[in-house]
Amino acid sequence: MVCGVKTLGQFIIEKQSDFPYAKGELSRLLRDIGIASKIVNREVNKAGLVDILGDMGTTNIQGEEQKKLDVYANEQFIAALTSGGECCIVATEEEDEIIHIESPVSQNAKYIVCIDPLDGSSNTDVNVAVGTIFSIYRRKTIDGRAVLEDVLQKGTQQVAAGYVIYGSSTMLVYTTGKGVNGFTLDPSIGEFCLSHPNMRIPECGYMYSVNEGNYGHFPDGVKKYIKYCQVEDESTKRPYTSRYIGSMVGDIHRNLIKGGIYIYPTTSRSPNGKLRLLYECNPMALIIEQAGGKATTGFERILDIEPTELHQRVPIFIGSKKMVEKAEEMMLMYTEKSPAENKVADAKLNDLGVVGGID
Ligand code: AHG
Ligand code: MN
Ligand code: MN
Repeated sequence: MVCGVKTLGQFIIEKQSDFPYAKGELSRLLRDIGIASKIVNREVNKAGLVDILGDMGTTNIQGEEQKKLDVYANEQFIAALTSGGECCIVATEEEDEIIHIESPVSQNAKYIVCIDPLDGSSNTDVNVAVGTIFSIYRRKTIDGRAVLEDVLQKGTQQVAAGYVIYGSSTMLVYTTGKGVNGFTLDPSIGEFCLSHPNMRIPECGYMYSVNEGNYGHFPDGVKKYIKYCQVEDESTKRPYTSRYIGSMVGDIHRNLIKGGIYIYPTTSRSPNGKLRLLYECNPMALIIEQAGGKATTGFERILDIEPTELHQRVPIFIGSKKMVEKAEEMMLMYTEKSPAENKVADAKLNDLGVVGGID
């Protein structure tokens, strides 16, 4: 029988030759993440049948309720990275501090993994897509125990990043800085198989994703951009469609395939935004940039931010290049401007077809 399928494992080994001095460590690390995600997938898939839905009754460092699946996924990824032997530190959304991996097999490990083990966990109880997001760095220090500074690196230093989406099918999408490839889990053989080679995000899309319930708390630039998306204009195919799942992985995966913008801005209640730089924004920014899109805070490239804290939050505008640029234009026009300056900006926006107030 002829087998035309390319598995994730085969693909990773093939791609190792893109890095002439590679010794297979990164490949093994990616393999370990793939294995843990299959275990999490198994649990997510049968979640309604076993006692794994609902709250754990605990909160994480950021004061967020932990779901049972958050804790389960966290344990699985840490276990896989510990037994795999290629990772010296794991930084996860679910733990206050970095975790040093000090198993006998990890003595020479040089990689740091930052992970959101279960993204969108508020959706687990209602059978809506959730995900895992990961980011990989090489440690900067050479000897001894790796330290927090090894984790606090700019997004440009990532050697790989990816996500898994546990959706109507389960997919793993990753990049090592040479394009983006997507693999669909074939449950009958238990393997991720290459299904979306060389993924590219459309330069312009027609969908916007933002939690509009927070509209009253958004900066004026975001309010204006949302109005821009809603205005009728044939030449730019507006109004755009609004789609918001509430799982960053789900929203960004859809936008990657169909085109679109995802925004989680600052709000008057969350002055730094909600999403975490190290294990949500940086990995997604690398993937989207590698697919031809753009990711900024509204003013500054996400990947250029120098992290100062482990659980740092940043605002994010990410997706199709042209859409992000248009949103940035409006952020620039309206941020910290006087009412008189806002009037001038309003006049400019009228030319773009955005009319009326924002309240
Ligand atoms: P997590 O489940 O890892 O805490 O992340 C949830 C994030 C993200 O996935 C999602 O897009 C966003 O929070 C939703 O936040 P709101 O409910 O405030 O819109
Ligand atoms: Mn998350
Ligand atoms: Mn999470």
